[in-house]
Amino acid sequence: MFLDEIERFTKILKSLLKEKKAKIISHLDTDGLLSASILAKMLLRENFNFELRIVKQLTSDVIKELNLSKKEILILTDLGSGQLLLLKEILDKTQIFVLDHHEPVKFTHLNLFHLNPLIFGEPEISSSVICYLFTKAFNLKNTDLIDLAIVGAVADEQEEKWEFKGLAEKILKEAELLGKISVLKGLRLYGRSTRPIHKSLAYSFDPFIPGISGSESQAVQFLSELGIKIKENDEWKKLKDLTLEEQKKLASAIIVERLRAKHSEAEDIFGDIYSMVGKPEEIQNVREFATLLNACGRTSNFDTAIRLCLGDFSAIEKSFEILTQYRKMIGESLDWLRKNKKSILETKFANYILAEDKIPETLIGTTTSIVLNSNLLNTRKPIFGLAEAADGKIKISARVSRDLKQINLRDIIVDAVKQLGAEGGGHKEAAGALIPKAKAKEFIKIVDSLLGEKIASKEV
Ligand code: C5P
Repeated sequence: MFLDEIERFTKILKSLLKEKKAKIISHLDTDGLLSASILAKMLLRENFNFELRIVKQLTSDVIKELNLSKKEILILTDLGSGQLLLLKEILDKTQIFVLDHHEPVKFTHLNLFHLNPLIFGEPEISSSVICYLFTKAFNLKNTDLIDLAIVGAVADEQEEKWEFKGLAEKILKEAELLGKISVLKGLRLYGRSTRPIHKSLAYSFDPFIPGISGSESQAVQFLSELGIKIKENDEWKKLKDLTLEEQKKLASAIIVERLRAKHSEAEDIFGDIYSMVGKPEEIQNVREFATLLNACGRTSNFDTAIRLCLGDFSAIEKSFEILTQYRKMIGESLDWLRKNKKSILETKFANYILAEDKIPETLIGTTTSIVLNSNLLNTRKPIFGLAEAADGKIKISARVSRDLKQINLRDIIVDAVKQLGAEGGGHKEAAGALIPKAKAKEFIKIVDSLLGEKIASKEV
């Protein structure tokens, strides 16, 4: 039924675009940037006129600024499903297409074309996959955009922790069959064929290597203790240059470090390595490309990200400069956290990182994810990062380990923001909110009591 609805909606969009201009709004994370790029590529190929805007969140201000006329339609990607009620006024004037995978609110309208797998009882897929299916139904020549769809799916699977199953898995198989994506098993480390090995180790935050992630000097020492040379003929060795013997030694040593730090999934360093076939070597690795896009998005370098996705590879150099800067910022956030443990409030049911203005609101999500992966805090409890945002607001990013099956962060956040008259949403293991600064303490109290109720009810 979901696929039938996609077919139907593409026909409607085709006829509307003969007379109207499209305005696209998408989310700034990797999946949002890819979703926007997939749609943009489709519209460019059809010679349709459009405007594209990337935002942090769909708020009433963003909608007001749109100034949408009757001669324009709105397409929302990777956002919108949770904010349908904000769209009522526009819907009385013109059509809106929502291609999203976030938890939807119940709302229908004659002018609303809402594509979200959750409405159809389908398991979750990334917005990039929804956009891919949509563009493919629009015109079969868009099948070549499947690699971009997979990057979004891999990025979201990693960040928002849902599983690569169902339709997403089917699309992955399709991408392999089409020769656009290759999948190999191996060590999931950054820069396999492009970075010196000590950098691969130091830049690995997921999987996290205790004592080594974040520190190049520790990584160099770790390798030397293992007897693995980091240079050969005056050239930095890369992960791909290691002998099988060395790779095995390195993998075992990383597992030992992770076991020592009591990681529940110590052997998680092995996994599927996805590559985009035919792309320049620097951006072939899917997870690394996703990280590159995320860095561009989180630092508001949207144009660079979109250019890369649309195949303008002259943007590669700039994107790596952005990534270096972004990693530096993340490193600083983690350093601040390590040195300011008193800014972490641990209650019976959760950890709260009270970052104030020390961690930028655009980095609090990634920082909270890294903290969860790193065992810096007790990960048997959910972690809530709170950072100051514009207009007297606080941005909240919540993350919980996949092992804590009884906790649905989206439900907790939605319930809490309802009580506070604020906005929020997300997924089971990664959710977020924006609340007035004055309500931070109340938020913590409400969340703690909701978590307490949840945990107590499951224990009975
Ligand atoms: O920003 P962050 O990475 O923490 O977001 C986690 C999840 O929560 C994302 O899916 C995001 O769309 C959602 N979120 C939301 N409302 C907010 C902030 C985040 O629905 N105000």
